Amino acid sequence: ALVTTKEMFQKAYAGGYAIGAFNVNNMEIVQGITEAAKEENSPVILQVSAGARKYAKHNYLVKLVEAALLDTDLPIALHLDHGADFEICKACIDGGFTSVMIDGSHHSFEDNIALTKKVVEYAHAHGCVVEGELGQLAGIEDDVNVSAEDASYTRPEEVEEFVSRTGVDSLAIAIGTSHGAFKFKPGQNPQLRFDILEEVAKRLPNFPIVLHGASSVSQEYVKIIQQNGGKLDDAIGIPEDMLRQAAGMAVCKINIDSDLRLAFTAGVRQHITANPDHFDPRQFLAPGRDFVKALVKHKIANVLGSSGAA
Ligand code: G3H
Ligand code: 13P
Ligand code: ZN
Ligand code: NA
Repeated sequence: ALVTTKEMFQKAYAGGYAIGAFNVNNMEIVQGITEAAKEENSPVILQVSAGARKYAKHNYLVKLVEAALLDTDLPIALHLDHGADFEICKACIDGGFTSVMIDGSHHSFEDNIALTKKVVEYAHAHGCVVEGELGQLAGIEDDVNVSAEDASYTRPEEVEEFVSRTGVDSLAIAIGTSHGAFKFKPGQNPQLRFDILEEVAKRLPNFPIVLHGASSVSQEYVKIIQQNGGKLDDAIGIPEDMLRQAAGMAVCKINIDSDLRLAFTAGVRQHITANPDHFDPRQFLAPGRDFVKALVKHKIANVLGSSGAA
């Protein structure tokens, strides 16, 4: 059966690595990720956004993930990414997910606590775990665009009260990552606030921390897209050595979506450019899947450090 993140996070914390949480939207993405995880013998979190549920429909995504479980027999958690309210969390808890995020980070501290606590009570009564969030990342998520000026780092002095009053199982924090493919312009110097992460970890011993907005925007994929008819502004993401460092600390879950999109698009574009006569979708979706698989193998082995942990 699908598992919660409880045991995978405990082992990741103790072992100094992180579990990859990859966004899934269709069969090829589910297969690419889980084939990679299988070859690396790694646990994996497959996460679904509200946009994914709208695009592929709840039941299709649950059944695709259950199929991946049948094929791989890995520890796989199915997680709701950025749940906006109690209702969507409840729908996912009732509908086969093992983990949900309630994203109350844009509410006041007290409202965030009240909303998160309500989700935790329902989730725990139904065998599900919950991720909360404190602090706001810059970038775009589910059509909400948070400008760099409105983004705010997590305040370490708030984390103990938030965790103890809500009962959340993990906490997403803002330390300088941001959502989307256009995090930083070339020439900018991405920095993560490891001092904040340290301070949070000190206040929450052994408690799993989550990083959102952790794509690295590999220049290899950007180039392939640009060279094959794509229009993509130059952009850079979070350097992988910084993610590796965070994974060695209290960070137990690292969210990756944009890198999957870039890899998939690079694979499809390269194939279509080289084979303009192809019109069987299998012909150009297979390289998208292959690119996703290669990316995820690289992340697991070289960035997350979770190879062999399944
Ligand atoms: O953090 C947002 C994820 O990348 C999901 O994006 O809402 O477009 O599915 P989406
Ligand atoms: P990226 O856009 O950096 O891949 O972040 C994804 C994410 O945080 C999903 O919740
Ligand atoms: Zn996110
Ligand atoms: Na870790």
